[in-house]
Amino acid sequence: MTLAVKQVREIALENPASSRVFEQYGIDYCCGGHRPLADACQEKGIAVSAVLEAIENLSSAEPAATEVWATRSLAELVEHIVWKHHNYIRKEFPRLQQLAEKVVARHGNTRSELAQIQNDLEALGEELLQHIQKEELVLFPYISKLESAYRSGGSRPYGCFGSILQPIDVMLREHDSAGRLSARIRELSVDFNPPEGACPTYHAYYSGLREFIEDLHRHIHLENNILFPRAIEMERGEA
Ligand SMILES: [Fe+2]
Ligand SMILES: [Fe+2]
Repeated sequence: MTLAVKQVREIALENPASSRVFEQYGIDYCCGGHRPLADACQEKGIAVSAVLEAIENLSSAEPAATEVWATRSLAELVEHIVWKHHNYIRKEFPRLQQLAEKVVARHGNTRSELAQIQNDLEALGEELLQHIQKEELVLFPYISKLESAYRSGGSRPYGCFGSILQPIDVMLREHDSAGRLSARIRELSVDFNPPEGACPTYHAYYSGLREFIEDLHRHIHLENNILFPRAIEMERGEA
């Protein structure tokens, strides 16, 4: 199968370094990654050959984080997600809020998109803080218990929901919402490019937004494409 007709999420799973190329071109490889690369490129008005070439040129020595997590225990993956991605949201969101305040106060009268970006950032951050709390309090502890029971041949742990499909479905819908808000921020900020002559705070704000959203994509990719499918298989006794 040529790469162009493969689903974007499959390419990102098989070649984790390709996520850098997808970020660069603004191609969604997590929530919206269930479609062929050629279609995703067409929608963005990008030549698929340019994306394929960029993927081919990636160093094979890139650390393959996703490959590593495809084989490690789910308990380790959960710990990694909380330590690396959830803590990052808790630390970075307040800093971005402060930068947004400053930039809107200084430039909001001439740049109307700044207030919209601030509103979207506020909605995104608030949604994410509640979302990661639900994962940490309910879903992730259940996944770790499920894995222990599966490995020891014990019975399925008690959960306040019927099947793990239920909380996962809620999390997936929340990821989609975060994906929509992120895409709008990216669009409103013209791919995080400040206008000509923008002040250093403006640059710091846009580059912070870019990093925040790129980290969110890596985070959601680990959950949607590795953690959740493996937990579902485990619940079915198929892992
Ligand atoms: Fe998460
Ligand atoms: Fe999540």
